[in-house]
Amino acid sequence: MPAQTVYLNGQYLPVEQAQVSVMDRGFLLADGVYEVIPVYGGQPFRLTQHLQRLRNSLAGIRLDLDVSDSQWSDILNRLIADQDSTELSVYLQVTRGSAAKRDHGFPSEVSPTVFVMVNPIPPLDPKLAQQGIHAILLDDIRWQRCDIKAITLLANVLLRQQAHDLGAQEAILVRDNLALEGAASNLFVVDGSKLITPPKSRYVLPGITRDLVLELAPAAGLVATEQDIPAQSLPGYDEIWLTSSTKEIMPVTLLDDKVISKAKPGPVWQRMTQAYHDFKQTLGQDSCP
Ligand code: PDD
Repeated sequence: MPAQTVYLNGQYLPVEQAQVSVMDRGFLLADGVYEVIPVYGGQPFRLTQHLQRLRNSLAGIRLDLDVSDSQWSDILNRLIADQDSTELSVYLQVTRGSAAKRDHGFPSEVSPTVFVMVNPIPPLDPKLAQQGIHAILLDDIRWQRCDIKAITLLANVLLRQQAHDLGAQEAILVRDNLALEGAASNLFVVDGSKLITPPKSRYVLPGITRDLVLELAPAAGLVATEQDIPAQSLPGYDEIWLTSSTKEIMPVTLLDDKVISKAKPGPVWQRMTQAYHDFKQTLGQDSCP
């Protein structure tokens, strides 16, 4: 099998040859941001929105990067063309770059490290649609700028692993008694025909899948609202979902030890998943979905 090609600082290289200095601030200080962009039928999905969020994240960490949308598009398309599969996920990372010495303050002369790789997206487990997932509630131990998609993910890593250690697939994070989002996903609850998600804030990543689900809600017969969700109210909702670019819409059927939506993915989830898949089919018909 030919080696995977990745993009690093203007070059397209076999992954084994792509090397970053140990002085890179991403390595030493986790000083950088990233994006994960799904690709369906060989086309990046919601690219404009992902690139806008990338710009917001870069501004959030005060990192200037002069790459236009069409330049990003060219990089992604070249890496996508190199793959056998057309169902992929793009991982894109920008760090502040490497400086002569390790210092917390920004170096005066430094150029960002830009890295992009594309990998096949694993097909969604069919058990998901039959059984849903198990989530647990955990205290949100992350920082106060969760709206920045920062590579500083140690808290998320520990929280996700804590969920795995308890046999669950995801942790739902709680701060000041409010359920905010998952360790790597956004949160929705269903109350009759009402779809609720926490409002955007410094404690929630503005998920691209989240925004699309809100956009599709009216066509799926749902009234969407952004409002706080007290953690203790969660088991009382008809359905609970977690959304992300790589896992799409995951129905939660067990929360801690409480059964949700009669232990199977609910009818509203089925409707919304259908709407989501229908929307994906519009790729290629619309140049910029
Ligand atoms: N994570 N919240 C957090 C904390 C996340 O890390 C993610 C996604 C989301 C969902 O955002 P989106 O719908 O834009 O994927 C919400 C990605 C997939 C990751 O870190 O791999």
